[in-house]
Amino acid sequence: MSESRAYGDGDASYQAAGQYEGLQRLSERFYHYMDTLPEATTIRAMHKDDLTESKDKLARFLSGWLGGPRLYREKYGPIAIPKAHSHLPIGVAERDAWLLCMEKALAEQPYAEDFKRYMIEQLFVPAERSRTQD
Ligand code: HEM
Repeated sequence: MSESRAYGDGDASYQAAGQYEGLQRLSERFYHYMDTLPEATTIRAMHKDDLTESKDKLARFLSGWLGGPRLYREKYGPIAIPKAHSHLPIGVAERDAWLLCMEKALAEQPYAEDFKRYMIEQLFVPAERSRTQD
């Protein structure tokens, strides 16, 4: 591990992700893959045509989620991930498509390899909790 602290400890994960600037890059690339991967067509169609706000929301959400500043709450108010997705038809395929976009976006980042694996493992939890079907 390249960090002296475990990733879940304080803001260690937020630092490992390159702080807010790193998370903005990650979110940008995540939505790039959602916009272009054939596997993501269904979940892309659930979003607005303009992804600007989605990118902003995801980067800000991840900041607080990784132990950094609670930037989502500052701008948009409180959020619970399962509730934010409860109106959407999300099954196993949609969950996995979301995680695929994230895996591809993570692969491009200048992060430690163990942090990329940690992120995917940790993100599986809210992705699974966002599932509304199957
Ligand atoms: C499991 C697959 C997922 C799908 C298909 C999905 C899809 C969506 C869609 C379509 C929206 C826009 C909702 C709307 O406009 O009404 C949304 C919002 C959002 N999603 Fe996801 N999502 C998934 C998982 C996740 C995960 C795992 C996270 C965070 C770790 C996340 C974070 C967010 C955030 C922060 C918003 C903004 C909520 C708001 O401000 O209303 N999503 N998601």
